[in-house]
Amino acid sequence: MRKLAAGNWKMNGTGSSLAEVEALVAALPAPSCDVLICPPATLLSRMATVADGSAIAIGAQDCHANASGANTGDISAEMIAEAGGTHVIVGHSERRTDHAETDAQIRAKAEAAWRAGLIAVICVGETLAEREAGRTLQIVGEQLQGSVPEGATAANTVVAYEPVWAIGTGKVPTLDEIGEVHGDIRARLGDRFGAEAQGMRLLYGGSVKPSNAKEIFAVSNVDGALVGGASLKAVDFGGIIAAL
Ligand code: PGA
Repeated sequence: MRKLAAGNWKMNGTGSSLAEVEALVAALPAPSCDVLICPPATLLSRMATVADGSAIAIGAQDCHANASGANTGDISAEMIAEAGGTHVIVGHSERRTDHAETDAQIRAKAEAAWRAGLIAVICVGETLAEREAGRTLQIVGEQLQGSVPEGATAANTVVAYEPVWAIGTGKVPTLDEIGEVHGDIRARLGDRFGAEAQGMRLLYGGSVKPSNAKEIFAVSNVDGALVGGASLKAVDFGGIIAAL
């Protein structure tokens, strides 16, 4: 399957940052993997214009479950699609923690993404306390069960495993630990979605850098990465893409 390098800019980037995307477009006329960048909503439309006709897809970092309505500060999946987005991240740990998002809300957001024709990038991952208590597979399994809706297919869903303690910290699980969780995610998706699960892309996220990308991508059932800090600069993200 074709791998996916996805960048999550989080709350970073203004108009001047579009130069990084221009540089990436110029450097990667034909990347050997799919490439996605999820900027803040303020840049969605302009970045989609910059990336138009290139191999780079654009997505958002969150959406509301409803198509429109009295939801101050939120944006809908339909709005993301209209702005030129093709993907939306849902259930990132920063949303689960800072905004107390539940699995049920994340599942509704993923369904909203599909309703608007977007691909949902659904995030799961354990905290350090949960890992140290030996509960990683249980927690990730519960999040998967609760957050991934019925009807998930290889075409409409990407799952990102992001250990909370590895995000932005420079800490990365061992390759064996990544392989264990990704294998378990594949098996659980297989139980629910049958053969379709074989084609669902499973991304690893958490402190992926050009220097560690190659070894992480070689782990079985790792079909790409969700990259935060190292996706902001074309030179870093380009290095990760080159490793895929
Ligand atoms: P990081 O973030 O690459 O900066 O660790 C990953 C993420 O939160 O998606």
